[in-house]
Amino acid sequence: MALVTKAIKGTQDLLPADSYKTRYVEQTMLDIASKFGYKEIRTPVFEHTELFSRGVGDTTDVVQKEMYTFDDKGGRSITLRPEGTAGAMRAFLEHGLFNEPLPQKVSYLTSCYRYEKPQAGRLREFHQFGVECLGTAAPAADAELIALGHNIFSHLGIEDLQLEINSIGCPECRKKYHEALHTYFESKKDELCETCLDRLGRNPMRILDCKSPVCSGIAKDAPKVLDYICEDCAAHFETVKSHLDAMNIPYVVNPTIVRGLDYYTRTVFEFVSTQIGAQGTVCGGGRYDGLAEQLGGNSTPSLGFALGIERLMLLMQAQNTALPEEQRPDLYIASMGDAANVVAAKLAASLREEGISVQYDVAGRSVKAQMKYANKLNVRNTVVIGDSEIESGKVTVKDMDGGESVEMELDGFEDSYQNYLIQSAVAEIAGVEGIDMSGINIAGLF
Ligand code: HAM
Repeated sequence: MALVTKAIKGTQDLLPADSYKTRYVEQTMLDIASKFGYKEIRTPVFEHTELFSRGVGDTTDVVQKEMYTFDDKGGRSITLRPEGTAGAMRAFLEHGLFNEPLPQKVSYLTSCYRYEKPQAGRLREFHQFGVECLGTAAPAADAELIALGHNIFSHLGIEDLQLEINSIGCPECRKKYHEALHTYFESKKDELCETCLDRLGRNPMRILDCKSPVCSGIAKDAPKVLDYICEDCAAHFETVKSHLDAMNIPYVVNPTIVRGLDYYTRTVFEFVSTQIGAQGTVCGGGRYDGLAEQLGGNSTPSLGFALGIERLMLLMQAQNTALPEEQRPDLYIASMGDAANVVAAKLAASLREEGISVQYDVAGRSVKAQMKYANKLNVRNTVVIGDSEIESGKVTVKDMDGGESVEMELDGFEDSYQNYLIQSAVAEIAGVEGIDMSGINIAGLF
């Protein structure tokens, strides 16, 4: 019997000790994207299989080998999304978002599913932060999109990430390129793998990202797409580069980037690291001017990128990137005796109403054990409530970092404690900034 306490190969848990880091990174990305005008979109985790076979392309590795596809009980072929772009475009077309002011800018945080061989940075369930800018053909949009990625990485303090860009042209210039590739690969036909032999007839560009060592060795010397792009595509690429130069965003042109999904046209790009092993592409994207039509909609030139959360977290770990400290709980109320337990619960409830993070004993422990637990929670303050505190109407707020203890009335404790928190925060900031606070009555200010 399979161990039910073991997660499925290629999946991973995010545990409480680490989750705040991922949450911080995700929130930062959503916030920055929102400053660029992106609003969140949520689409289903599963879609009709055809959306991906048509959108992502049925000669890609993703569609041919990696999708989690099954028939549901109604006999429909369903696929767990391997990526977020096709679903975002489907929603854009289905809900008539093309009638809204264009471009529509959407962002998402989603789980994705690909049946790949798991290794560091490559999972079967992984998470993407993605953005899609739908309804613009202008090269300024390409540069702005890349600037958004750049902005996210620099804001998070990520270093040594190389931005690589390329243009893979439009369907017109692609024809000539396909011919050149076909001629090249035809001469190496005997060495290609089965899948690539099939691709040779249908889409020779896909041979360029085959993972087999023999095919990728052959692909190294294949003709480069930049040598085949038409005048319009070349002019578009030049404008994208000039905007990037103007924004001081460093990049290198890498003519071998073709991306692994079929919908791309013109600009493609990747942010690549050498610090996390073979799976070094942290973020990838580009234009997909033909996708809307491929899905049955009207022409809607668009572009976007997606960034792998797990790869980004691996990179941040490798670089020891500084992250903000996890928020500490403010207060632990330890109590002993039935009457005090009730007071603790009541006090916690009203403190929480005030937005203060507070915990109390919900495990029936002794006061000593409660204090030990409070210590492990890394709370700022504790109070102990017993019969004598109830009788005197006073409690002592203890500073767990070794500062002074302060006595407070139980009556009106919520306000007194809130004031105390504000004063402590101001004193802390003044300490960091070296401001002399003697003689200033902070309490009087609030
Ligand atoms: P992609 O290059 O297939 O593009 O994936 C984007 C990112 O997702 C990768 O750079 C990587 O960080 C992460 N990723 C992909 N596969 C895995 C995996 N098996 N395990 C862990 N992380 C992975 C797309 O998905 C496009 N939809 C991007 C896009 C959006 N293009 C235009 N708009």
